[in-house]
Amino acid sequence: KYECAIFDLDGVIVDTAKYHYFAWAALAKKLNINFTIKHNELLKGISREESLEVLLGYSGLINKFTREEKNQMMEEKNQLYLSYIEQIGRDELLEGALCLLETLRNRGVKIVLGSASKNAPLIMSKLGIETYFDVIVDGNLVKTAKPDPEVFIFGADKALVPYEKCVVFEDSIAGIQAALASNMFAVGIGTKEDMPLANEVISNLSQFDVDRFFC
Ligand code: G6P
Ligand code: MG
Repeated sequence: KYECAIFDLDGVIVDTAKYHYFAWAALAKKLNINFTIKHNELLKGISREESLEVLLGYSGLINKFTREEKNQMMEEKNQLYLSYIEQIGRDELLEGALCLLETLRNRGVKIVLGSASKNAPLIMSKLGIETYFDVIVDGNLVKTAKPDPEVFIFGADKALVPYEKCVVFEDSIAGIQAALASNMFAVGIGTKEDMPLANEVISNLSQFDVDRFFC
């Protein structure tokens, strides 16, 4: 059996992946870059900096901008994202999230957040769910973003749990890769088509069979 559950935030616990997408799509439109929901799959889970590089890469514009211009674009995207999440409340928690957190806490399972987002603490406090987590690792704390395993390794180390005793919940290709590279069990939230490498895929957290994994 496993001892620790590591959750990604955006698109796993809370329905914010769409807001990241809307904000990147607005920037892409301004720059005349063709950017669809399918292109967006590769942006999920990676850092703000790398997302911009991937987005610009879609257009061949990658070397056209100065560092300052890129910083300005990231700032603009983030301000738009912040405006979308300003009113966020518990109704934007994804199906099964709160119930699973409750169950895991009652069973004494270690609960860790492993997110690439620098806005994770803000969202957690707006939703009032920080208290469920034994360890919170977000984009402000890690140097190397997913698919690098750093975020999950750091979280498991802080929770004092061996990597092979951790189950990771992820909605991104990069996050599934990071979990597997950490020697953890990777549960994809979404579709098998989007996350073919996941150990298993469920459509939302209410589908997770807790008894199979945790005592
Ligand atoms: C998450 C999301 C990404 C987002 C990244 C950075 O992992 O899946 O879509 O770009 O975090 O988020 P931030 O809030 O720091 O810009
Ligand atoms: Mg995510």
